[in-house]
Amino acid sequence: MTDDGAEAFDTLMAAADPPLIVVTTAAADEQAGCLVGFHVQSSITPRHYCVWLSKANHTYRVSLRSKSFAVHFLTSEDLELAERFGAHSGEDTDKFAGLDLDHDEYGVPLLEACPNRLSLERISLLDDGSDHVCLTSRVRSAHTSGDFTPLRVSDAAHLDPGHESEERAIQP
Ligand SMILES: Cc1cc2nc3c(=O)[nH]c(=O)nc-3n(C[C@H](O)[C@H](O)[C@H](O)COP(=O)(O)O)c2cc1C
Repeated sequence: MTDDGAEAFDTLMAAADPPLIVVTTAAADEQAGCLVGFHVQSSITPRHYCVWLSKANHTYRVSLRSKSFAVHFLTSEDLELAERFGAHSGEDTDKFAGLDLDHDEYGVPLLEACPNRLSLERISLLDDGSDHVCLTSRVRSAHTSGDFTPLRVSDAAHLDPGHESEERAIQP
């Protein structure tokens, strides 16, 4: 792609300004979670959902050993949670410390402060050679407390990610 094309792409993505979620998962005795802007519904019948995890992230590494995930939709009140899960890594911080937590039947941590959420079962993991992998999933259940104003990528643009995507262990 040309430099102009790349700039246009970035402008279009900024205009789309997706809502932010926190994805959590667990494997054996390890739990993980990170802030995610790349996510979308991917089928109507049955209802499927995709999230993209950066290969640089601790959450990605734990996700390889798990089939179960929770997606928490953040509201405009949740900037602190966005910072906790998006600007720190589970490698060296316990992101869940001090939070009110529940766990679903698969051991996945649920953030009680975020009642708008999905429970997902991974179907496949697509690695197309880029810096993120796509997890496709079946929606096991969904819960909402009603209408909310989403926290969006533009609201969190000032955060420095706990891991930059270039930090992935295996370079192309
Ligand atoms: C606005 C914003 C959007 C982000 N979107 C994603 C994303 O779509 N997928 C992802 O894996 N990481 C994304 N990140 C980065 C991770 O949330 C961040 O690197 C986090 O600290 C990783 O934590 P972990 O190492 O404990 O998994 C985003 C960060 C920010 C600030």
